[in-house]
Amino acid sequence: MTGRDAPDRRERPASAIAAAAFGVSVLGAAGFAAVYAAGGQTQLEGLTLAVAFAGIAFGLSVWARRLLPTGGYVEEHEPFDSRPTDLRLAAEALTGPESPVRRRGLLTMLALALGALGGAALFPLRSLLPFDRVRPVHALRTTPWAAGVRLVRADGTPVRPADVPDGSVLTVFPEGHRDRGDVPAFAVRLDPARFTVPPSGGEVAGVVVHSLLCTHAGCPVALYLQGTARVLCPCHQSTFDLLAGARPIAGPASRALPGLPITVDADGYLVATGDFTAPPGAGFWSLK
Ligand code: FES
Repeated sequence: MTGRDAPDRRERPASAIAAAAFGVSVLGAAGFAAVYAAGGQTQLEGLTLAVAFAGIAFGLSVWARRLLPTGGYVEEHEPFDSRPTDLRLAAEALTGPESPVRRRGLLTMLALALGALGGAALFPLRSLLPFDRVRPVHALRTTPWAAGVRLVRADGTPVRPADVPDGSVLTVFPEGHRDRGDVPAFAVRLDPARFTVPPSGGEVAGVVVHSLLCTHAGCPVALYLQGTARVLCPCHQSTFDLLAGARPIAGPASRALPGLPITVDADGYLVATGDFTAPPGAGFWSLK
């Protein structure tokens, strides 16, 4: 019996190590699927995927380095064709029941690891499906602004129409969601008689509210030009006319600032009656 007819004592631990590595890969892939299904967490998803790939890589490395024949073979240049006897022996070595590439259990574990990884990779496809309301296809088009949500300042205090100052803008957020990047808005007091286009979100006692995010690339439209009732984005100088539906009149922005529909609640505070009239922020939303 030759050394390849049966695994020697040094090969058995190597088989166990490779199988264990594939098993770790299965756990990593399952962990990725579980984290994703539970709502997702970027660092954990990356970590579990790294474990899945590392398990397969390590298992294949051990398999190749310690179980497959290595080095020390010499072949004469002539003739180039293998002799029939050599071909038969090679085929037997690779396909026989004791072949190192058909080591019992390893192929099963490798197939399991690759299958688990492939299955886990299908989970993110859910993000592209239209019924998933927390994933990008919806999350990028909606914000926490909704009917009955109060407008609050940065410190969380609610806002009455009379709190909106003359001559400047007041930055507002939806109550309970001040940390979201897509929610900032500004309230400004204007003379309704000057509107050439009604504000898309309506007005309450001359107070109108629009998204604070420039529709070009998302910078805050932080500069208010009181005399002309325009707001200017400092990033690339897009200018929006608040008397004409907040449409852009200069600069690269091509879309009006979304309006926020508002009213007052029973306590006299400003509340939204729905989400922005259009997705806030960068203008790619209007591309077809
Ligand atoms: S981000 Fe406002 S003009 Fe470019």
